[in-house]
Amino acid sequence: MMAQDLAPIPELFVSYESAQKMKMEAADLVSHDLSPRQICDLELLMNGGFNPLKGFLSQADYDGVVENMRLADGTLWPMPITLDVSERFAEAVELGQDIALRDQEGVILATMTVTDKWSPDKAREAEKVFGANDMAHPAVNYLHHTAGSVYLGGPVTGIQQPVHYDFRGRRDTPNELRALFRKLGWRKVVAFQTRNPLHRAHQELTFRAAKEAQANLLIHPVVGMTKPGDIDHFTRVRCYEAVLDQYPSSTTTMSLLNLAMRMAGPREAVWHGLIRKNHGCTHFIVGRDHAGPGKNSQGEDFYGPYDAQDLFREHQDEMGIEMVDFQHMVYVQDRAQYEPADEIHDRDKVTILNISGTELRRRLSEGLEIPEWFSFPAVVEELRRTRPPRAAQGFTVFFTGFSGSGKSTIANALMVKLMEMGGRPVTLLDGDIVRKNLSSELGFSKEHRDLNIRRIGFVASEITKNGGIAICAPIAPYAATRRAVREEIEQFGAFLEIHVATSIEECERRDRKGLYKLAREGKIKEFTGISDPYDVPENPELRVETENVPVDNCAHQVILKLESMGLIKA
Ligand code: PPS
Repeated sequence: MMAQDLAPIPELFVSYESAQKMKMEAADLVSHDLSPRQICDLELLMNGGFNPLKGFLSQADYDGVVENMRLADGTLWPMPITLDVSERFAEAVELGQDIALRDQEGVILATMTVTDKWSPDKAREAEKVFGANDMAHPAVNYLHHTAGSVYLGGPVTGIQQPVHYDFRGRRDTPNELRALFRKLGWRKVVAFQTRNPLHRAHQELTFRAAKEAQANLLIHPVVGMTKPGDIDHFTRVRCYEAVLDQYPSSTTTMSLLNLAMRMAGPREAVWHGLIRKNHGCTHFIVGRDHAGPGKNSQGEDFYGPYDAQDLFREHQDEMGIEMVDFQHMVYVQDRAQYEPADEIHDRDKVTILNISGTELRRRLSEGLEIPEWFSFPAVVEELRRTRPPRAAQGFTVFFTGFSGSGKSTIANALMVKLMEMGGRPVTLLDGDIVRKNLSSELGFSKEHRDLNIRRIGFVASEITKNGGIAICAPIAPYAATRRAVREEIEQFGAFLEIHVATSIEECERRDRKGLYKLAREGKIKEFTGISDPYDVPENPELRVETENVPVDNCAHQVILKLESMGLIKA
């Protein structure tokens, strides 16, 4: 049985006086602006959460970690913690040089002495660390599309912690938690890692785990970076606070961990265990599919459901933290309680209930009942506040088509129909309005058109995020730009692409603004459909024909589409 020695662990910070001095001196150093993920990594490096690491990995340590989960000196460490930078930045830095590491506002957090600089083989890193070089894995996608192409390694000197304005009282460094456990006399502590709201099954699971290990319980949710699409940490923390009262008093506490997860399944479980050991815990709960990234591009799971438990078990003695393995918990209606799925021996005689994550999201988006056996009313209330039913969420309707195709006319008709229904604010971002107010300096080159559409996309995404309806009606001739806008908006709500499919011949015949004539005469250059390209949308949510169809009918088709998607109520 492991009992923790709760002596302080080493941090990388210098004293207050030295920090003040270093801040002044750092003005002369080359600065690297840290990415959000690097800020998370740096925080845990500096405060001892990543003990025994003393900085971003050197090349030798990186190679060892990638190949066999070990630093060059043989110490177990499963995750490459690397400082990725652009080639341009790397060229300006020499080995032995000190660089300043700054947050996104330019505040200096640390310095690093660069001892190593190399271009990693990212495909190999993906294969070895994440199990496949497959872009469906969020960390592999990040590695190839977000991370810089050169890694810098070297020891870090900590000046100050990254600043957090949210939930300050709930954030603890490893040494603060160690001190708390010492003070409370908690000799054994079981940690529960989570990136999701806690429902009754989790509460039951964590409570049983603590009982089994005869330990106190630390709910230790990740608030750094989790899987794209997860519920934001503000909502989750309010949910956790609501659940804390459900545990017997003085047995349980909660602390927030500013970790940037990689969703690396088995390796991630071992990493999480080491981090919790550093935070003074003796036990760590590993459930089914721990830190799973979802399906790969073939539609199969990246890792087996209990791979994480197997890898943890193999290394737990060396890690010095014990695993509490947990099976999937399900609700047995006849006994009105949660039980581990594998321990139910009378399956054919009882009714077993379960609501998956997908089903929960469906119920939230359709405003359907979420039963009390599944979650706590206070948690459901919080979730409903951030995930209102679809008919109360923001969305964007994005018309695209040639000049004079009828986009603006249909968009205007749609706008007034939606305003007549009421409930949500409606904003029209018509091509001409935008060019007057947002993009007056832009012309019609590919570059300028892209910039114009991206601006529209940004405004529409803000409107969608805040629960409004954005109607956009630019030409938007390039499919790739439309796709980028879609991706930006779909983080916050629905995106409907509507192709106003009036033919170029008909647009030219109508020539409402006389522009086609000028384009034919060569007086307007780069005119869409005449002397400039238009990518016809391949899979729009709706394609409307305008020839011989009244505008009112076209707008009505959009309304019907919105109804069928649950975005407006019939
Ligand atoms: S884009 O490509 O999406 O940025 O274009 P957009 O902002 O929608 O602007 C299109 C309106 O500008 C007028 N106009 C031109 N259109 C296309 N090509 C060229 N070269 C051009 N020059 C001016 C035209 O009236 C468009 O208005 P709509 O509302 O589409 O008819």
